[in-house]
Amino acid sequence: MTPASAPDKSCLVIGYGYLGSRTARLLAHEGWQVWATTRTEEKLPALQRAGCRGLLLDLISGQGLKQLPRVAAVVYCAAPPRGDAHLRRQLHGPGLRRLLHHLATAPPRRFVLVSSTGVYGQNTGEWITEQTPAVPASEAGQVLLQAEQQAREILGPDVPVVLRLAGLYGPGRVPYLGQLRAGEPLAVPRQGWLNLIHADDAACVVHRVLDSQKVPPLLLVADGYPVARETYYTCVAQLAGLPPPRWAEPDPESPKARRATSCKRISNRLLLESLKVKLRYPSYRQGLAHALATAEGS
Ligand SMILES: NC(=O)c1ccc[n+]([C@@H]2O[C@H](COP(=O)([O-])OP(=O)(O)OC[C@H]3O[C@@H](n4cnc5c(N)ncnc54)[C@H](OP(=O)(O)O)[C@@H]3O)[C@@H](O)[C@H]2O)c1
Repeated sequence: MTPASAPDKSCLVIGYGYLGSRTARLLAHEGWQVWATTRTEEKLPALQRAGCRGLLLDLISGQGLKQLPRVAAVVYCAAPPRGDAHLRRQLHGPGLRRLLHHLATAPPRRFVLVSSTGVYGQNTGEWITEQTPAVPASEAGQVLLQAEQQAREILGPDVPVVLRLAGLYGPGRVPYLGQLRAGEPLAVPRQGWLNLIHADDAACVVHRVLDSQKVPPLLLVADGYPVARETYYTCVAQLAGLPPPRWAEPDPESPKARRATSCKRISNRLLLESLKVKLRYPSYRQGLAHALATAEGS
């Protein structure tokens, strides 16, 4: 099957992880024919139960690449195990390149690349829009910026839509909830802004991007409600019915301390205007209330 003859509503989700699984399930629910990939055979039954066709794919080894179906749309939301810089470089560098060259023989109508607002190294609290130059301060940000460039070079400027996501959270992903429940002090920086997006809203955004005729080639995906770090963790404790956080000095060399040197506020104005999306969780307060009340736990 070539993309020209691929059903209009056929989609391949690369990476059935936290965001990918929500996206794949939503698309299947909305009547799309969905294929989704994982490296983990045990995940395949759950994937099928969700209405998707599962495929085993490892972009670093290239295993499974030749079995990928030709579809109208591809969503790349693969991510390496957290904090593994080597695998990150391998996945978003040669791994992604391998996928793009494979797709380029008969490009999909749309290729959604899920990137990160980590490409912005700004640290003075300024508002960031799609017009703001991306100058990464971290290696992770540099790798993703290069990944975005690769997608445009290999598929051409009109096919990729880059979504730069703020911090993903939701059921099962509320950072530091475990430490708060255990009464342990939080070794996290208290200053600076956190920019967030609930995973269900992020999945809705991907769906809108695939369903809309005209989409800007770059969109920032955040709830547009930046929150001071200390306020956020205090709210997590409060909503979870726990005492206020106690704090410990973070190791200045730790990745979380380095990440926290970035201090910026992400605007979602273009996202809301161009896609006409209405976020279900327009701030961390509604999102945390949902995440903490959901059985998936945290
Ligand atoms: N988490 C955040 O706060 C955040 C913030 C901004 C942007 N993002 C972006 O959002 C996207 C999704 O993040 P997530 O949190 O949903 O990730 P995740 O839950 O860690 O899921 C990652 C997925 O990628 C797959 N994967 C890992 N290595 C692979 C490889 N070598 N070949 C093929 N697939 C591979 C995993 O396979 P298995 O199913 O086998 O595990 C999994 O399905 C990523 O692009 C990330 O950069 C995340």
